[in-house]
Amino acid sequence: MGVRHFLSLEDLSLDELWAVLDLAASVKATPEKYAHALNGKSLAMIFQKKSTRTRVSFETGMFQLGGMALFLGASDIQIGRGESIADTARVISRYNSMIMARVYGHDVLEEMAAHATVPVINGLSDALHPCQVLADLQTMRERFGDIRGLTFTYVGDGNNMAHSLMLGCARAGVNVRIAAPSGYEPDAAYVAAARSHGQVTGAEVMVMNDPMAAVADSHVVYTDVWASMGQEEEQAQRLIDFEGFQVNGRLMSAANNDAIFMHCLPAHRGEEVSAEVCDGPQSVIFDEAENRLHAQKALMLFLLGAG
Ligand code: CP
Ligand code: NVA
Repeated sequence: MGVRHFLSLEDLSLDELWAVLDLAASVKATPEKYAHALNGKSLAMIFQKKSTRTRVSFETGMFQLGGMALFLGASDIQIGRGESIADTARVISRYNSMIMARVYGHDVLEEMAAHATVPVINGLSDALHPCQVLADLQTMRERFGDIRGLTFTYVGDGNNMAHSLMLGCARAGVNVRIAAPSGYEPDAAYVAAARSHGQVTGAEVMVMNDPMAAVADSHVVYTDVWASMGQEEEQAQRLIDFEGFQVNGRLMSAANNDAIFMHCLPAHRGEEVSAEVCDGPQSVIFDEAENRLHAQKALMLFLLGAG
């Protein structure tokens, strides 16, 4: 097989997805075993949008594997002056072992991958955020062991997180419900893709508009910001449109007693989640953030054939 990219969870076969998650657990348990696995390798990280977790976890992860990472703000490199994505990808491929990019349009990543001769990793696009979902599946496995057959409910905007969570859960055999306000449902193409994965794994994929009904019998309740990066000017309207979709104590009490609360972060307490839930005993948000480090180390080892 040629160069492997990771633009979507769908870029890993089902066996590979479980193998990367197993490797992530091993990397977390015994990081010293992998301390020199990527000696001499480097990761170029291109950011069109802001980041805390993605930037810090990838950069630290590469260091912990014996390699190094370069932070490249999109406005600081020649892309900001109009150099093409294709040429940028070709050039960076001559220097670095991998490219990670956080972009607006998903097509930017596809173009990068089409021209790069090294693996391209999606560090978030307007459409998908698959690295977060690797960390989230790792977190769910830590809490529940075998996650197949669980019910996962996402409450909020049908955004990049909703899309990747649907794909990741359906592929992992986790039933997934998305409860979004009318008009903010996930993209139909991703719903259809998740349903087709669900047919293989037995996972059911439902899109609903009633958060209370959606969380019933759920093992996991997940939410994300109501206005994503690039949607700042819609914030005021979204505050109105998402009324009733806050994950708070009342909503959590409709889920299973031992349900966990998840959020990719950054969180807006008082908007999509109450402080009581976000900082309460059911919350695993900082485990998710930590697992970005371990899951992405595993992903990079896998993409470079070093796992
Ligand atoms: N969850 C996540 O991707 O966080 P950052 O935007 O801080 O990278
Ligand atoms: N949906 C959010 C996720 C941030 C990690 C955004 O795109 O801004």
